[in-house]
Amino acid sequence: MLRRKSPARLIADAGQTRTALRRVLGPLDLTALGVGAIIGAGIFVLTGVAASEIAGPGIVLSLIIDGFACAMAALCYAELATMVPVAGSAYTYCYATMGEMVAWIIGWDLMLEYAVGAATVAVGWSGYFTLILKGLGIGLPDALTHAPFTVPGAIINLPAFLVVLAMSALLYVGISGSARVNSLVVGVKLVAVAIVIAAGAFFVERHNWVPFAPYGWIGITRGAGYMFFAFIGFDALSTMAEEVVDPKRDLPIGIFGSLSLCTVLYILVALVVTGMTPYHSLDLNAPLASAFFNHGMSFLSSVISLGAVAGLTSVQLVLLLGQSRIFFAMSRDGLLPGAFSHVHPRFRTPTLPTLVTGAAVAVMAGMLPIDLVAELTNIGTLFAFVLVCLGVWALRVAAPDAHRPFVTPLVPLVPLLGVGFCATLMVSLKPITWLRFVIWLAVGMVIYLSYGRSHSRLSAEDEPSP
Ligand code: ALA
Repeated sequence: MLRRKSPARLIADAGQTRTALRRVLGPLDLTALGVGAIIGAGIFVLTGVAASEIAGPGIVLSLIIDGFACAMAALCYAELATMVPVAGSAYTYCYATMGEMVAWIIGWDLMLEYAVGAATVAVGWSGYFTLILKGLGIGLPDALTHAPFTVPGAIINLPAFLVVLAMSALLYVGISGSARVNSLVVGVKLVAVAIVIAAGAFFVERHNWVPFAPYGWIGITRGAGYMFFAFIGFDALSTMAEEVVDPKRDLPIGIFGSLSLCTVLYILVALVVTGMTPYHSLDLNAPLASAFFNHGMSFLSSVISLGAVAGLTSVQLVLLLGQSRIFFAMSRDGLLPGAFSHVHPRFRTPTLPTLVTGAAVAVMAGMLPIDLVAELTNIGTLFAFVLVCLGVWALRVAAPDAHRPFVTPLVPLVPLLGVGFCATLMVSLKPITWLRFVIWLAVGMVIYLSYGRSHSRLSAEDEPSP
């Protein structure tokens, strides 16, 4: 029989947590947290490779495809997030729709989005940060800015390691302070993006857009799979449902507000940057800042680099936040040790998940060649989106009369479009990414069968051993 928890049961279980998380986030905080998670390495770093080597100026179409896929998924997230407004995001929704085993797998899978994603972004952050220090005449030795074995003599990527610890410390001491810092940082990065669009528009030369799709539709689709990273993050809002004042109203505002703003900005940035510089000459590491530097605007180039550092900082903050809330929810259901669902009596944040996530991600960012597995973040997130889209449809069938504060329109068309687009993006990723992904899920399954299944609260309460 399917070991499933109804939405009502999930909400009741969440209410039994001894100390509750603090409900302080409003619609503006949520939108800022969404933008905080979305705009980062994707647009500031990956655009260079995507335009020069994969899609050419056609990257604009890649971004439109990504935006459409995310819009379909966001419509589905909004229905489930308002129906089951408890921490845990796709993990929780799968518990309500497809049962415990799929829920565990998706919880395990979400580590690729949140923990691996945060580590990848920390490494990108370190690259930009070291560049800025170098510009100020402060050179850090290679041994301290690279993970072991990535360059000769490397010991640790110290800036990446330290920034993750700093973000985790901020999260540990409270959600309100974290949201305030996030809003500040988001302001800085939005200024940088606005500069790219407004100032860059004057340097667009239309012949740079010709040919528009030098690598054809295959390049555009592959570009969409690669650039999908840039859109990851709006779904992180659904992990914070228990910290939102009025989740039923505010979660859809945050999800749609941040996603639509960022999609429009991305399309404009891609148009401007590929119009400023021939696509094959774009810088692979800092495409936005270099486009301005190459036009002799070194001051604006520095401002954009600062914006990138800010951007990458808030992405880490929100991804670390999301990961800790998912561990928290999984522990409450008994799938992880109970200590993971203790809430700090004063700060009202989940103590152990925040510490463990921070330490693990810091080590990954500082010591492992994490950028090699960055594509895993895309495939992991796309998989979660597919299941959330299917979940909306499944719950419409299983509980047609349940109260739905937000109703996904045109079911099953919208969920099916979401599944179709996300699955196509998954297929466009490299075979090695698929292989690593399958191995990761297999490891997760072994852990579920040897620990989670027998420790689950469902097995303790609903199937007592004789
Ligand atoms: N969307 C986030 C970024 O681009 C993960 O950095």
